Amino acid sequence: MRTFKTFLVVVLVLACSSMLASQDYGKLSKYISQATGDYVGSAACGICHVQTHDWWFGSGHAHKLRDAEEARGAGVPPPDSVSWDDIKWVIGGFNWKARFVGNDGYIITKGGMNQFNLANRGWTDYHPDETKKYDCGPCHMTNYKETGRQEFLPGVVGRWTFPSVHCEECHGPGKQHILTGGSPAEVTVNKSSAGCGKCHFRTDPAIIPASGGFIKHHEQYNEILKSNHGTQLNCVTCHDPHKTGSSSIKITCADCHADVAGVYEGSSMGQSGVTCEDCHMPLMTKSAISLKKWVGDVKTHMFKINLNAGAKPFTSDGTEAKGYVTSEFACLVCHYDRDKSWAAGYKGVIHGLR
Ligand code: HEC
Ligand code: HEC
Ligand code: HEC
Ligand code: HEC
Ligand code: HEC
Ligand code: HEC
Ligand code: HEC
Ligand code: HEC
Repeated sequence: MRTFKTFLVVVLVLACSSMLASQDYGKLSKYISQATGDYVGSAACGICHVQTHDWWFGSGHAHKLRDAEEARGAGVPPPDSVSWDDIKWVIGGFNWKARFVGNDGYIITKGGMNQFNLANRGWTDYHPDETKKYDCGPCHMTNYKETGRQEFLPGVVGRWTFPSVHCEECHGPGKQHILTGGSPAEVTVNKSSAGCGKCHFRTDPAIIPASGGFIKHHEQYNEILKSNHGTQLNCVTCHDPHKTGSSSIKITCADCHADVAGVYEGSSMGQSGVTCEDCHMPLMTKSAISLKKWVGDVKTHMFKINLNAGAKPFTSDGTEAKGYVTSEFACLVCHYDRDKSWAAGYKGVIHGLR
């Protein structure tokens, strides 16, 4: 049976694409025969989509949950309370911070100082000494199922086909796509913001949860729904979902807002290198650590700015953001010797200041 399947793959792929080298047929056949259900794994996709695979492998999606060994090799240190032998997986540690999962599947909380922050290579407390199950799978895994336990570990909730966000989490299982030599009908391509919002959201997309003077992280979907971008653009209008950081941005603010950009270009701030993002997408959100007043570590996606002197960024109990950037974050982070009334004086003329 297996031999027959392998034969079929080779014939079909050969028929549809004469570009593959012979060692690639061998690899593909192996991936197909080792598939978990219809999930073949990103390495198989990478045989034909070489460039996309390389980009993806250089982005956070590919490294969300890593074996201890891999994270160690990438330079993540272990918390003081344990040694590498006590660590099964490392959560993240690619862009902002790392947390650690023990051999029993529970998140390591012993003694606190259990979250490693990349920005200053320092440690902070994450639920010190509490019992924390690793129940983070819906947003960190490929083909996550709530039932069962990965590797029967007591501390883990649910199971998955692959750790981290692989090609097939976004495109669906790829075996048939490969067996048909790349039929587009056999993959899913969801360009909606809601598709990304499945993971880039928190609790209820209608609100923007906050705490400690910052928006909480992974809420880009909640945030964008408060701006006119939310109804008119998708995440992938601006982002190539396979790339990381600034390299993922495929269209600039100025491409769509040529009028504003034209005015702003000649202004004193424009000339000094202050960017659209500095004001409209400040670090109003915090994932790992805040190193300065009003400076978090994730760019907000609310875009809208309210310069009124009385405008508050958060509700009075601090648990929700209001849905716009205020002058603390948009202006005073740079003009730290000024105040909100000063900033309010530039309402309506900000882009044209000479
Ligand atoms: C044997 C080579 C091959 C492999 C392996 C392969 N693909 Fe493809 N894929 C193709 C080809 C060829 C196309 C272009 C089809 C077209 O444009 O008509 C394609 C197109 C796509 C598209 C675009 C579909 C669209 O509607 O535009 C996606 C998404 C995709 N592949 C994802 C994957 C994923 C995920 C995997 C791994 C599970 C994978 N591919 C493995 C050959 C391959
Ligand atoms: C986080 C979700 C996500 C992941 C992970 C992902 N893709 Fe995509 N991919 C998309 C979306 C959304 C599009 C459509 C983008 C657009 O049209 O702007 C897309 C488009 C594509 C296309 C069509 C050409 C293009 O680039 O627009 C191919 C081929 C493709 N993906 C292959 C892959 C492969 C191979 C992997 C893994 C190495 C992968 N994708 C991982 C979401 C994802
Ligand atoms: C609703 C989806 C969701 C859930 C549930 C979730 N996360 Fe995340 N997480 C994300 C997204 C999206 C990001 C990246 C975007 C951001 O932080 O704004 C992220 C980022 C992270 C990072 C930083 C990664 C890096 O490379 O710096 C860590 C660490 C992390 N999450 C840990 C956890 C832990 C631990 C849990 C469970 C207790 C959890 N997350 C549950 C969606 C989620
Ligand atoms: C299955 C959950 C999931 C889906 C769906 C998802 N993401 Fe993510 N995304 C994550 C997690 C988790 C991280 C944090 C990874 C890290 O940095 O360690 C992340 C990180 C990112 C980052 C920053 C990481 C980097 O290296 O630049 C961007 C940008 C991003 N996602 C965009 C998107 C877009 C656009 C889509 C929709 C096409 C999408 N994501 C869909 C879970 C998801
Ligand atoms: C693909 C085109 C496109 C790109 C790229 C784009 N915008 Fe927009 N932007 C729009 C559209 C469309 C609207 C809605 C127009 C309206 O409200 O009349 C909008 C509205 C806005 C608004 C008003 C928001 C509100 O909710 O009131 C601001 C501010 C803004 N954009 C800033 C930016 C910044 C800053 C960037 C770059 C980070 C950017 N835009 C990139 C198309 C774009
Ligand atoms: C108008 C364009 C635009 C849209 C729409 C957009 N983004 Fe972004 N996003 C950006 C820019 C610009 C950055 C900053 C990139 C950089 O320079 O690192 C960014 C950064 C990010 C980051 C990394 C944050 C950080 O501080 O490193 C994540 C995660 C992200 N976007 C996710 C999303 C998701 C999910 C959506 C849809 C809900 C989305 N974006 C929609 C323009 C956009
Ligand atoms: C990223 C840092 C940064 C941010 C954010 C920022 N500025 Fe500036 N601003 C500058 C710099 C640098 C200059 C100096 C330009 C020059 O040499 O004249 C400047 C100059 C100014 C000036 C004097 C320019 C003139 O010609 O009169 C005013 C007024 C001003 N900013 C207001 C604001 C307001 C209001 C905000 C928020 C909406 C803001 N700035 C946000 C960096 C910033
Ligand atoms: C110094 C801070 C700052 C910079 C830099 C900045 N903006 Fe703005 N922008 C604002 C403020 C503040 C508002 C809200 C309107 C007001 O109070 O004047 C605004 C409003 C807007 C609006 C909606 C209203 C309108 O005027 O059309 C758009 C669109 C916009 N900006 C786009 C951009 C783009 C594109 C860039 C870069 C070329 C940019 N902004 C650079 C502060 C800034």
